[in-house]
Amino acid sequence: MPIDLPAIRRQFPILDRTIDGHPLVYLDNAATTQKPRSVLDAMTSYYETSNANAYRGMHILAERATIALEDARKTVQQFLHAKQPEEIVFTKNCTEALNIVARGLGSALQDGDAVVLSILEHHSNIVPWLMLKEEKGFDLLWVDYDDRGQLKMDQLEEFLRHGNVKLVSVTAQSNVLGVRPPLREIIRAAHRAGALVCIDAAQAVAHEEIDMRELDGDFLAFSGHKLYGPTGIGVLYGKKTLLERLPPLLGGGMMIHEVHTDRYSVAEPPAKFEGGTQPVAEAVGLAAAIRWLSQFSWNDIQSHEQSLLTHAHNLLSKIPGLRMLGHSPSPNPSPPYGCLSFVVDRVHPHDLTEVLGRRGICLRAGHHCAQPLHRRLGISASTRVSVALYNTLTEMEIFLQELHAAVTRLS
Ligand code: ALA
Repeated sequence: MPIDLPAIRRQFPILDRTIDGHPLVYLDNAATTQKPRSVLDAMTSYYETSNANAYRGMHILAERATIALEDARKTVQQFLHAKQPEEIVFTKNCTEALNIVARGLGSALQDGDAVVLSILEHHSNIVPWLMLKEEKGFDLLWVDYDDRGQLKMDQLEEFLRHGNVKLVSVTAQSNVLGVRPPLREIIRAAHRAGALVCIDAAQAVAHEEIDMRELDGDFLAFSGHKLYGPTGIGVLYGKKTLLERLPPLLGGGMMIHEVHTDRYSVAEPPAKFEGGTQPVAEAVGLAAAIRWLSQFSWNDIQSHEQSLLTHAHNLLSKIPGLRMLGHSPSPNPSPPYGCLSFVVDRVHPHDLTEVLGRRGICLRAGHHCAQPLHRRLGISASTRVSVALYNTLTEMEIFLQELHAAVTRLS
């Protein structure tokens, strides 16, 4: 379906609201996206017609809840081009999915092994590894970025040559710089060196097609709420053979095969990782979000979002004292994906976003859960503008005008 912005926007009830008389200009989509009516309706309808505990009853509602959950799993499988539904584990969010990988693989890591991360990572792909490192003696190696914000592939290759790297865990799209590491190249290099690859797709998932069969990544994690779906649901993709070998993170109902007073055995994946009552309504909402987004072609989504960010990039570069992060102005600036972050001389990001927030403009300020990256950039905080399919050029114009006025006032 072609991108018809007025029609798309009408499907998002929240976009109609005003803030203190100003139209809402929601540009904090990297934190969470707004939800179309079809997602809200699917969740309400599930609660009104089918709510029960999935897998735990013989009655009609329990059956409907189980079918709804398994249908949602198949929708996610198709969305990621995974080979089978068993490769899709439902989690609370992307963070939980990454913790399953870290905890699971960590139990096999030994002194002298290494895990490679990039300096672009979000805390959810850093802290689980730091927690594990406190217990185990493996090395954590960091791939830096160059002056265009791109990962230094030669450094990664150098790490991989040492032969003790067990895993490379990397973002598919930075939530600060809006750059995309070359995943295919990273996966090929890691596999050549015998290392697994885990992809944090929290940011990328709403902006580019992810084909796990073609990519050949070993694990991938994302959250539903950045994909126009609800909070409270995330996904861990894992190759079936790897999920079979990975120990579970949570113990409880449904993740078991047998329980005795002195021992237990675990179920097959994905149940093994889905201890406790599952977020069925959220899974239904996530499936509805995927169906909603799948009406549009990835080319159309990308070219619309790129045009918004390119426009912002061009105008931001004209504001005196404003510096965009990770995008050198010339000779060939790399295009930003999903978001752009910047700092302004003598203006704190919190002051700036507060002033803009009162004018209805929602941005994020701070370290964006990426403190190591901010430290590497030599700053403690930045301001971020992040786009979704429903944003318009008019909204970009409003944001840029108001930003200009706020910077003049505050600096
Ligand atoms: N990870 C989210 C962000 O970047 C919350 O804002």
